[in-house]
Amino acid sequence: MTHTVLNIQASARHDGSVTRQLSEKVLASIGADTTITRDLSEGLPLLNAAWIDANFTPSDDRTDAHRETLALSDGLVDEISRADTLVIGSPVYNFSVAAVLKAWIDQICRIGVTFKYTPDGPVGLLTGKRAIIVVASGGTPVGSDIDYATDFLRHIMGFIGITDVSIIAADALGNDAEAKIAAVQNEIENLTFEEADQ
Ligand SMILES: Cc1cc2nc3c(=O)[nH]c(=O)nc-3n(C[C@H](O)[C@H](O)[C@H](O)COP(=O)(O)O)c2cc1C
Repeated sequence: MTHTVLNIQASARHDGSVTRQLSEKVLASIGADTTITRDLSEGLPLLNAAWIDANFTPSDDRTDAHRETLALSDGLVDEISRADTLVIGSPVYNFSVAAVLKAWIDQICRIGVTFKYTPDGPVGLLTGKRAIIVVASGGTPVGSDIDYATDFLRHIMGFIGITDVSIIAADALGNDAEAKIAAVQNEIENLTFEEADQ
């Protein structure tokens, strides 16, 4: 089986970014035949009225203008659809995800495309994929009551059908950063490419 990875990076920083550095290690450990890179530090548009109108217009009724409005979103969804594994670098900004990562999430949560509603509730449509999320924070412990990033990301992945989610946490780096990063690097070295367990 060939392995396609979608590498999504949300840190505004390049130099000195812990999530980017650790994500590179993840990529080296899991390997890939094809890597698609989506660097969110270049920014993404926020949803607006035109986008919402286009998205909620049934696809057969969409005008050329609707299609043009959704073109970026379609492209981002296509990147996920092509990937077997998503690697997401997510710094904690103000106790949550970077705004640009939320903007990406808003672009890829598409009714009828990445999820659908059924009488039993929402069902994600992008099944058979795995997500590895690399989180870094300065003081917020991952998994604590003030971490509004990781549960949210895990939930969003499940919402679009990706339930095989690993969180790699380099958290609370304000103390003992070197030791913590070294421990996470060891964890990453033990990662291998695995098909999603769903
Ligand atoms: C705008 C901004 C907001 C931040 N907010 C938090 C926060 O709420 N909690 C926290 O623990 N660290 C916070 N930090 C620290 C970052 O999470 C930490 O520096 C992390 O390493 C950033 O990821 P990066 O190294 O990949 O850029 C913040 C940093 C920035 C630049």
